Amino acid sequence: MAGRPLRVLFVASECAPWVKTGGLADVVAALPPSLAALGLDVRVCLPFYRSIRREVGEAPACATVLGALVREATLPSGIATYLIDAPWLFGRDGGPYQDSEGRDWPDNAQRFGLFARIAATLASDETPLLWRPDLFHGHDWQAGLGPLWLKNGLPGPAPSIMTIHNLAFQGLFAPETVEALRLPPGVYGVEGAEFYGRLSFLKAGLHYADALTTVSPTYAREIQDEAQGCGLHGLLARRRDHLVGIVNGIDDRVWDPATDPLIPARYDRDSLTGKRVNKEAVQRRFDLTIDPTRPLFGMVGRLTWQKGIDLVAEVGDRLAGMGAQLVVLGTGERPLEDALRALAGRHRGAIAVRVGFDEGLAHEIEAGADIFLMPSRFEPCGLNQMYSQRYGTPPLARATGGLADTIRGVDAGSCEGSGFLFAEATGAALWEALVRALASYRDRTCWTRIMRAGMERDFSWAASARRYGALYETLVAHPEISPRMRAHP
Ligand code: ADP
Ligand code: GLC
Repeated sequence: MAGRPLRVLFVASECAPWVKTGGLADVVAALPPSLAALGLDVRVCLPFYRSIRREVGEAPACATVLGALVREATLPSGIATYLIDAPWLFGRDGGPYQDSEGRDWPDNAQRFGLFARIAATLASDETPLLWRPDLFHGHDWQAGLGPLWLKNGLPGPAPSIMTIHNLAFQGLFAPETVEALRLPPGVYGVEGAEFYGRLSFLKAGLHYADALTTVSPTYAREIQDEAQGCGLHGLLARRRDHLVGIVNGIDDRVWDPATDPLIPARYDRDSLTGKRVNKEAVQRRFDLTIDPTRPLFGMVGRLTWQKGIDLVAEVGDRLAGMGAQLVVLGTGERPLEDALRALAGRHRGAIAVRVGFDEGLAHEIEAGADIFLMPSRFEPCGLNQMYSQRYGTPPLARATGGLADTIRGVDAGSCEGSGFLFAEATGAALWEALVRALASYRDRTCWTRIMRAGMERDFSWAASARRYGALYETLVAHPEISPRMRAHP
């Protein structure tokens, strides 16, 4: 290895711009180029979904592993990828995890079981590839069986890291799956991949990986407690010396109001006039009353319990009653979508909802709204609050996980900070914060200061990429030593 760059294989189920349902795709797209800038050789292993085939075409095959072809293609960022082509598992229309009706694919265990096993093989002596990684870096449950295979039978295994982007998604399957996937003997137990009588892909990863990371320091602490630990807090607390929280960055070339081609008017912190044009464009797009003086709240994301959508539905009538406006873009749970639609129906001209996934509209809302809402019950990191600070749209968020780590809260009566935080996951606490934000909004000097404080912050990946780089290097040198002990000697 001496003299050549450290090789890291990212193993994930999403990567922007090819396949994206949430922030995982953004991280898997943006972190590797930042690591490459530090001199590391990072490649990304993804399932060859039909949607990716449409983007890249056939892509040359370089090997066969466990009956699947390994194809090669290059991301727009220049990062090389290995695409696992198993058409019986990935060659279908629909999303990466669900069909177009929103039902989980019934063979998800087979799909991501084989995917992770092949990726692990590529990180062992059994790889047919010339490029052999020094480290396996898996993301979320879809990669969870990789460390299990690396620790149970694969010869010459690379050390492994698992990153938790969201502990609430665990990849739980019936016990019969253990046999169907021909898992090695002995792995299905409490000290292994079993979670209360079911096979847990995520637990397998968290148990067998050499190091664990999650996407913010606060979330790293929260998941060791019962309230946010999703049943895995015991394991995570036991492995706390192997668990570090490294906050996500953002791709600041894609998310930059000074150059963003997806917004009607570009602007920066020295000339904010473009922002007014963008606000009017959003009001027009959503059929709201066009009025520069009415505070406009924006929201983009998955419409789920995690994101506190029910809290927004709870305060929506009062918000409209105060003369404020709200636009929401997202898809998710049907009852929450319906609650928002009903709210919009009661307040035409003030509240509007667009159910769907629309990258361009997400940029327009970040640029055009005055305040960005993120009342999440839990938020491992969250990216939108960083985008919104960059776009001069102060976030209003619950102080949890990465939201607490990336937003400097403005206290009542102060103009210091870059957003608004509240503690309890209740409509009343959200309402109190809304009132506080609107009071600041009415004081233009104060508001401009808060906007600029967010726009000035550095959310680039550089600092976090260095932390991953340091973790990789020590792990390759001494896989047995606790990463935390190395991080804080
Ligand atoms: P999570 O990964 O939990 O969904 P994040 O805040 O980390 O939350 O990342 C969500 C990402 O997905 C952001 O880039 C956001 O803009 C994007 N996104 C979510 N829903 C939509 C949507 N309906 N349309 C466009 N972009 C969306
Ligand atoms: C998950 C989390 C989100 C995080 C993203 C990327 O989807 O819900 O908070 O920002 O992963 O790490």
